[in-house]
Amino acid sequence: MTENSEKRVFIRTYGCQMNVYDSERMSESLAKAGYAATDRAEDADLVVLNTCHIREKAAEKVYSEVGRMRQLREQRGKGLTIAVTGCVAQAEGAEIQRRAPAVDLVVGPQSYHRLPELVARAEQGETALVETDFPVESKFDHLPEERSASTGAAAFLTVQEGCDKFCSFCVVPYTRGAEESRPVDSVLAEAERLAGQGVREITLLGQNVNAYHGAAPNGAAGSWNLAQLLRALGEISGLQRLRFTTSHPKDMDDDLLAAFAENPKLMPYLHLPVQSGSDPILKAMNRSHTAAEYLDIIERLRNIRPDMAISGDFIVGFPGESDADFADTLKIVTAVNYAQAYSFKYSPRPGTPAAGVEFHVPEEVKSQRLEALQQLLNEQQLAFNQSCVGRRLSLLLERPGKEDAQLIGRSPYMQSVHVLAPQHRMGQIVDVDITSAGPNSLKGKITMAQKAA
Ligand code: 5AD
Ligand code: SF4
Repeated sequence: MTENSEKRVFIRTYGCQMNVYDSERMSESLAKAGYAATDRAEDADLVVLNTCHIREKAAEKVYSEVGRMRQLREQRGKGLTIAVTGCVAQAEGAEIQRRAPAVDLVVGPQSYHRLPELVARAEQGETALVETDFPVESKFDHLPEERSASTGAAAFLTVQEGCDKFCSFCVVPYTRGAEESRPVDSVLAEAERLAGQGVREITLLGQNVNAYHGAAPNGAAGSWNLAQLLRALGEISGLQRLRFTTSHPKDMDDDLLAAFAENPKLMPYLHLPVQSGSDPILKAMNRSHTAAEYLDIIERLRNIRPDMAISGDFIVGFPGESDADFADTLKIVTAVNYAQAYSFKYSPRPGTPAAGVEFHVPEEVKSQRLEALQQLLNEQQLAFNQSCVGRRLSLLLERPGKEDAQLIGRSPYMQSVHVLAPQHRMGQIVDVDITSAGPNSLKGKITMAQKAA
């Protein structure tokens, strides 16, 4: 194929890291079908909008973006295939094309291996292409073998997909389907390949990653849990840091807690959503744990690894949430002392049990509660960052900074740290003395001396 006849794909990714991972895999399989990636929609022959359905705002974004792409197609008078993938595709299916007829094809997360074929059919003029079935075969049967050479020093690796928890506010069990783990052999093979390409840090991904139970390697009977998988990954030379996300409190077993002490490559940072600090609300959310059980996990974690940094997710204004319930959320935040967190106003999602109940919290109350919660979480984040000033931390240099000769890396606790360093140190792990801290990032100086935490 000559340069000129090569087609181009522009992929826009919304939502979680799972979508980031999926977009990279789609980009690779489309590359094999002759589509080079571009970061300019104006140059594209194919646009893929990889969407998120978790909250209403996220889901609505896709329609305005389709509108922009349709305009682009009209302005330039040249063909542009518009594909919608991800969780909005799965949840809304054919409804997307009814609302936005400019969309040529709709492909759910279970059918990405068919994307090149579906794109080819759309280009030949086939319309109303919607592929959202849950096939009987495994979610992990169709992963492409090779990763593109552009992988940086830190990479995501999906090991588990789907969710069986059915929290009453959440669309994930419907859009991503039943929980399934990727076999150990396949995970280790991909991790080895990544390490061979210079990846130093891997984040294992799954909607319920700590429920991992992948088929044991080498045809052995039974399955491995996440702690076992992390142990084997820890033996891959070249790989120096391991993380995993997102976890559910119910699946934080003793093995996994112990891994934070026993596995030297496992970073002292855990994203463990609690959603609310009120037991009646946790019950209504179908979270299957209490506030006390969550706090007990945090306490045991910190006994095992005192410098453990905790991150979380919160929902305010869940139906029926009273002032007293919300006060309990502030209470649990104070008790945990988060290094970082995400918080959201409850957003009713069609088809989820919570959307149908009465006693929805008024919008202005949700806003007030969100503001109060975020103020507390921001104070905690700043205090945590400031507590790192004067410490020596290890840093994986991942990307260039805005200033000359500046690189940005991640600390063990997931903070972004800015340092002065020549470009050729990108991808290396260096020791840094932290000199200052703001709400969202730190500054430091690379040291040649002694090893850091
Ligand atoms: N409304 C608001 N936030 C939600 N989340 C999931 N579903 C909803 C919803 N309907 C949040 C939860 C979850 C995170 C990924 O998004 O906090 O942990
Ligand atoms: Fe959604 Fe709950 Fe499953 Fe997380 S555990 S993906 S919040 S249903």
